Amino acid sequence: MKRTSRFNRPFLAKADLSDPYGESKALFYDLKYAHFRAYALETKTLNRLFGDCCHEKSILEIGCGTGSYLCEFHKLGWLVAGIDRSEHMVHCAEQKLQRCGCTTAELFVMDFLSDNARIQDKKYAASILLYYFLQHAPDYLAAATLLTKLRQSLLPKGSVVFEVVNEEVYAKKRASSRIGEVYELQCEPYTVRCFARSYYENNFKVVVLYFTIETPEGPLVHIDRHRLRVFSYHQLQNLCREAGLQVVDVYGAYDLSPFDIQTSDLAIFHCRVK
Ligand SMILES: C[S@@+](CC[C@H](N)C(=O)[O-])C[C@H]1O[C@@H](n2cnc3c(N)ncnc32)[C@H](O)[C@@H]1O
Repeated sequence: MKRTSRFNRPFLAKADLSDPYGESKALFYDLKYAHFRAYALETKTLNRLFGDCCHEKSILEIGCGTGSYLCEFHKLGWLVAGIDRSEHMVHCAEQKLQRCGCTTAELFVMDFLSDNARIQDKKYAASILLYYFLQHAPDYLAAATLLTKLRQSLLPKGSVVFEVVNEEVYAKKRASSRIGEVYELQCEPYTVRCFARSYYENNFKVVVLYFTIETPEGPLVHIDRHRLRVFSYHQLQNLCREAGLQVVDVYGAYDLSPFDIQTSDLAIFHCRVK
């Protein structure tokens, strides 16, 4: 008898491995990540860090994804702008900003690494690069280019916060789990099942995510594979210096506890234009 896999039912979308932020990822990005990020709380912390940076409240998020931080900053009275190279993520951000009543946001579909022409004449008081953004840079030089372009888009005394995963800690946690991570999330009316695996390849962390989302219309399957650049703490410090950014503080979490290379999950850099 021929066995019918539940995956033989028609897919709503099947991912293209070449674009980890393609249409299907954009569709379920919030379903999955809203569980891992405390966007509103983190934004309040960032707002405190940026509090004294400038007289004006304008912020640029590079790699803004579906716009969750931009909405939260808008609610706190900031003029928001976002850049993302995925048109699907930007489309979701547009819709989310409209829903939260923001009519002034500027959103740009562009790869900030190769093209910043449309924001060249603009200056912002603050900028954020959160959740792996910098680790998408293919190498050290690309990360240096990103941070230099970012500094050029900031006002004098402008502030930036970027966040990377502390790979020292992450790698140890990963080493103790042999089969990868499997989890299930209930987000009515959806059920999300994910199998995630990561391994290290030279200076990259490769993350493979395989999702199935049971929607009322049928299953949606998404597979993606990210290559995330691993930067050491010293490389990150050097990157800031070379880009003309002065490191004000490095935190290990959004409660603003100090960064500790042995225990912190994240390294959150707060920098100022020199
Ligand atoms: C993990 S998502 C983070 C989204 C958002 N910051 C958040 O925390 O929800 C990373 C985003 O960065 C974007 N991205 C990566 N490299 C980029 C680049 N060079 N220029 C513009 N966007 C980029 C991806 O398309 C993706 O939407």
